[in-house]
Amino acid sequence: AGLVLLVGGLVAGAWMLFGPKDTVGEVDFDTELTIPPLAESSLDDHGRRVFDLTAQEGSLDLSEGTVDTWGFNGDYLGPTLRAERGEEVLIRYRNELGTASTVHWHGMHLPAAMDGGPHQMIEPGGTWEPTWTIDQPAATLWYHPHPHGETMDHVSRGLAGMFIVDDPAQQVELPSDYGVDDLPVIVTDPSSSRGEIEPSREFGDRVLVNGTEGPYAEVSTEVVRLRLLNGSPMRVYQFRLDDGSPLVQVASDGGLLPQTHEATSVRLSPGERAEVLVAMEPGETRTLRSIAPDLGQNFISERFSGGEDKFDVLQLRAADELAASPEVPVELAPDIVEHAGDPEAVDEAREFRLSGRQINGAQMRMGHADEVVTLGDTEVWEVVNNGGEFHSFHVHDVQFRVLTVDGREPPAELSGLKDTILTEEGVTYRLLMTFTDYADATVPYMYHCHLLRHEDQGMMGQFVVVEEGQEPAVGERAEHRH
Ligand code: C2O
Ligand code: CU
Repeated sequence: AGLVLLVGGLVAGAWMLFGPKDTVGEVDFDTELTIPPLAESSLDDHGRRVFDLTAQEGSLDLSEGTVDTWGFNGDYLGPTLRAERGEEVLIRYRNELGTASTVHWHGMHLPAAMDGGPHQMIEPGGTWEPTWTIDQPAATLWYHPHPHGETMDHVSRGLAGMFIVDDPAQQVELPSDYGVDDLPVIVTDPSSSRGEIEPSREFGDRVLVNGTEGPYAEVSTEVVRLRLLNGSPMRVYQFRLDDGSPLVQVASDGGLLPQTHEATSVRLSPGERAEVLVAMEPGETRTLRSIAPDLGQNFISERFSGGEDKFDVLQLRAADELAASPEVPVELAPDIVEHAGDPEAVDEAREFRLSGRQINGAQMRMGHADEVVTLGDTEVWEVVNNGGEFHSFHVHDVQFRVLTVDGREPPAELSGLKDTILTEEGVTYRLLMTFTDYADATVPYMYHCHLLRHEDQGMMGQFVVVEEGQEPAVGERAEHRH
């Protein structure tokens, strides 16, 4: 047996030396994963849950040295905001950067004036206090700046954080001890040179999780829940476990999937989220990796061709004894897609053609309402990607249901609620959504490509939600707050 082991060891050693190697992005997992703190909050006289969020400058230690960064309430990224469905929240935002910025609540259903898009710019030293009532299923949302033409710059420097929505009425029991068996996994890929983040580099040479380079996480339970968020500006990840065992996906952007989905890999384009469960054996070590994303044969980026885009992302280290975890049912939220409306009662259908850096042949115009939606309507948005490359299509304010992908039923990972979807070249997606609240003819919401370079280049449009018969009145100029 000793000889077999020895020979086996030699073969394995030789294979590691001479066999096919994943040379890109291999890391030593020598740093414990940073868990973004849960943001502190208090209740004000009106019963609102109040958070403080300050955009500020900071620095981050990376293997090549210390780099200057931006963060919320800290050096890089931001605290995790957490609130319950039914609660009213108030965020006291303060801009301590040297430049105007915004903060947008990605995936949140809320009034357009609270949305934090390019129309709600906050000047340096300025403050802003958006408030709204959380009314949507439990989900992993996030927040980040949205200044017109500069989103990639601000996000790449580190301005992003998670926003967890809980729903007290949710029946399913999942691992939910934040930072213990329920881990935020915010994946970014900043490049740096001479102590600075290079905010215009589209693809960094390594990935960070929650700002940690080479992270490991100690696992003390049988099952760990990972809230995966692709917070990178351009890179698509395809996550899998190193041993090929399944990632059990339980949620997508807007909440639980109807049923659990055993996936060999989970692909996320910028802005997308997925919640997955990983079952661990005592004492075991496993690695979450990202392999070259499968984007169809028409995918043209050189960066990904040849399968070179591989990264070690996060190592999970199980303790020798693991506490029991809740049993995960197959049925999670069979009715969740009803949130998007009744596909048999559609009031309006629209088409969105993605091509070049344009949507329907136009670029972002701050003073123009490209689409006018009537409050209460259920709509089908048909998104046609005929532009020769993939795009990541995101709609503000709503969570949509994917009705069809090229006329067929969507795959399991697209069976729940989404706010961002990777659209492959040549493919048509029919999305169902309902605009239930918040008419405002003067302030638009955005829809855009969430590849941040494309968004900054103007691949964005605006819609307003109006009362029946009302005319849109979107101003030319962004409102600037001091
Ligand atoms: Cu994540 Cu319009 O943004
Ligand atoms: Cu795009």
